Amino acid sequence: MAKRYLVRTFGCQMNEHDSERLAGLLEGDGYEPARDESEADVVVLNTCCIREGADTRLYGTLGHLKGLKERRSAEGSDLEIMVAGCLAQKDRESLLERAPHVDVVLGTHNVGRAVELLADHRESGRPIVEILEATVDADNEQFPSALPVVRENPWAAWVTIQVGCDNNCAFCIVPAVRGPEVSRPFGDILAELERAAAQGVTEVTLLGQNVNSYGRDLTLSARSELKAAHGEEPATMRHRVGGSWMQGERRPRPLFSDLLRAAGEVPGIERIRYTSPHPKDLRSDTIAAMADVAAVCEHLHLPLQSGSDEVLAAMHRGYTAERYLQRLSEARAVVGDLAVSTDIIVGFPGESDADFEATLEVAAEAAYDNAYTFVYSPRPGTEAAASEAPEVPRAVATERMSRLRAVVERSSRMANEARVGRREEVLVEGPSKRDPRRLTGRTRHNRLVHFEPQRPLRPGSYAEVEVTSASTTHLIGSLVEVLSTPKHRTKIPVAAL
Ligand code: SAH
Ligand code: SF4
Ligand code: F3S
Repeated sequence: MAKRYLVRTFGCQMNEHDSERLAGLLEGDGYEPARDESEADVVVLNTCCIREGADTRLYGTLGHLKGLKERRSAEGSDLEIMVAGCLAQKDRESLLERAPHVDVVLGTHNVGRAVELLADHRESGRPIVEILEATVDADNEQFPSALPVVRENPWAAWVTIQVGCDNNCAFCIVPAVRGPEVSRPFGDILAELERAAAQGVTEVTLLGQNVNSYGRDLTLSARSELKAAHGEEPATMRHRVGGSWMQGERRPRPLFSDLLRAAGEVPGIERIRYTSPHPKDLRSDTIAAMADVAAVCEHLHLPLQSGSDEVLAAMHRGYTAERYLQRLSEARAVVGDLAVSTDIIVGFPGESDADFEATLEVAAEAAYDNAYTFVYSPRPGTEAAASEAPEVPRAVATERMSRLRAVVERSSRMANEARVGRREEVLVEGPSKRDPRRLTGRTRHNRLVHFEPQRPLRPGSYAEVEVTSASTTHLIGSLVEVLSTPKHRTKIPVAAL
């Protein structure tokens, strides 16, 4: 019987996408997916270390797996445990000191080596730790475009356009674990989009820590890359990528907006999302591309972090609250009916009552559709963790968080209520968890919608739904018509004989 694997994801979208690659590699090696730990032969924990809670969760899970592994070995079998991702990159060998029952530790730059490292472990009978420092060669495993993926949803693909981050936000561990910023070659991205579309993918999310600075490090042979990817002549290429960088500039650099425009021409791709742009790099050409390219969803995730100029400066964010709000107004004016989400941190070292009030004011003015809010968590090795500024006591941070939640939930509810009576295009994800008679899907704004279909509708279908009611977190609607059904292949389970 084939061995079974389970991949658990702890982190962000990039982490999730790495999990899809880990699953793809394991399936390529003959493994089949397990439903839970109890039937798995290999468990891969794909970790995150953005906040302290993420560390705690990993070590808790490892504690639970220890008992399972011991029971297996008493029965004469094994449970192999592999730890991948950002926390593995950060903790390296010390992870084995805390959890000696881990068999393989691999970092963020060598996801493609997962299967070989498992084999090395079996051969040697010893734990294997392989952590690479950032590699700058864009053809190697940084962009494992050649790696197979097992997509969580066959109609939706994450597409990495950039890895690493060159910013130095004082609170953030990401540059330390994901390395310097490297943009993926333009032609490779388009080729992956086309491959995905041919497999029936209709929604793509372009991924990077700082997507707006895409291309800054590519000075490139854009022409030859596009030609290699598409076999096209320069005239059509110029059209494909937006004229700006192909018209005789001495050192053509593709911009993020060129990428949006080119992605918008890939047949079959109905929805394009991207995350995350940095407010300091949000240029007008990106906003214009969002407005011009029909497939780009009217949704902008623009992390604010704080509304206080002093705190923003101490965080090294590179913008003021006023500049942030100006960019946002420009985006709303140009794109039209734009949904906006954000990330906000409360309790950054030295954050005063007045600083926090400023955050509340900016959050109210920005009227977010959705906000991810975090209590500041010191990450050893970051500038803020060594800050001399006074710590914000836990109780104060918690109280600030609940006031901030009240502000963002009010705008979320109002934004959702404003959709009542409107017709929305919904991409169906599957049955609702709470009420299986209903289907759940997302609008172009990324709002969750539940509705009752009159007949079964496959996940990946597009439907027009009239919104009948709204809450802070979701919309309820009724089906108007089915717009399209999915083209991806569905695995048909074969009953065991
Ligand atoms: N590159 C992305 C952010 C990735 S991390 C960007 O710049 O938008 C996702 C979010 O986690 C950040 O936006 C921030 O709000 C939060 N975060 C990062 N480090 C944190 C820390 N030390 N404590 C609390 N929240 C943090
Ligand atoms: Fe972290 Fe800032 Fe880079 Fe985002 S832009 S990953 S918050 S350093
Ligand atoms: Fe993502 Fe967490 Fe790493 S947020 S980049 S998985 S530290």
